[in-house]
Amino acid sequence: MGKIIAVSNQKGGVGKTTTAINLAAGLGYLGNKVLLVDFDPQGNATQGVGASVNGNKLSIYNLLMEQYRAEDVIMRLSTPPIDIVPSSINLAGADLQMIKFEVGKEELLKRKLDPIKHLYDFIIIDCPPSLGLLNTNALTAADSVMIPVQCEYYALEGVTQLLLTIRLVQQLFNRSLVIEGVVLTMFDARTKLSVEVQQEVRTHFKDKVYRSYIPRNIKLSEAPSRGMSIFEYDVRCEGAKAYAGLANEVVKNNRRR
Ligand SMILES: Nc1ncnc2c1ncn2[C@@H]1O[C@H](COP(=O)(O)OP(=O)(O)O)[C@@H](O)[C@H]1O
Ligand SMILES: [Mg+2]
Repeated sequence: MGKIIAVSNQKGGVGKTTTAINLAAGLGYLGNKVLLVDFDPQGNATQGVGASVNGNKLSIYNLLMEQYRAEDVIMRLSTPPIDIVPSSINLAGADLQMIKFEVGKEELLKRKLDPIKHLYDFIIIDCPPSLGLLNTNALTAADSVMIPVQCEYYALEGVTQLLLTIRLVQQLFNRSLVIEGVVLTMFDARTKLSVEVQQEVRTHFKDKVYRSYIPRNIKLSEAPSRGMSIFEYDVRCEGAKAYAGLANEVVKNNRRR
């Protein structure tokens, strides 16, 4: 049975999409069947793997808001070896449209992913940078949350709010939701701040923090403009090694379960 992991942090620019793409790709290259769900109207994950939706192709919006099934919107990629549900900008309006629904508006995504869960080892959801209904849908559909924390000042401040949201979703919609892990992103070993933030995050989240941390690496920011994961763009760079390490840890942790 597949495991659904939501990559979430309401703060923008902390490395959610970079992590979602390269974790999904890394898991795919390790031989897992992986689905990446781009759940951000910005569509950065979709563009980042070169799967942009043009013309009348279906996207996450159609899946979420209309009578389509996941099979109708899934695209198969070969590099990286994953499937993707692409996003498009009209998802931005879904948040408001959903508010009108009487019941079940938090479970729209769950209802669409549950029927295909058994087809995958991992389903990775790239969440939008907000704590609105889209994020609630992702957390309700998910088995666990992966939290990317950028190694910068105030890193933990946003996380506090995310933890409250997680607790609320646990109480209201998804009792079995757990924290998959915390991944440190954009780590710069030359700065004292990065080292301090790392220590603070490890003190706070203990063994929930992955041993693999993601360094600041220019290649990680270049790869998406070529529609490549880091493993096609430059498999030898530090960023690729770090995300390969993260994917290995995720596999190992889930074997142990
Ligand atoms: N480890 C990293 N090293 C260098 N640049 C990075 C790294 N992680 C992310 N970036 C860049 O930082 C920006 C924000 O990252 P992104 O993954 O899009 O964050 P989010 O999805 O949380 O908004 C992007 O331009 C991305 O390419
Ligand atoms: Mg993003």
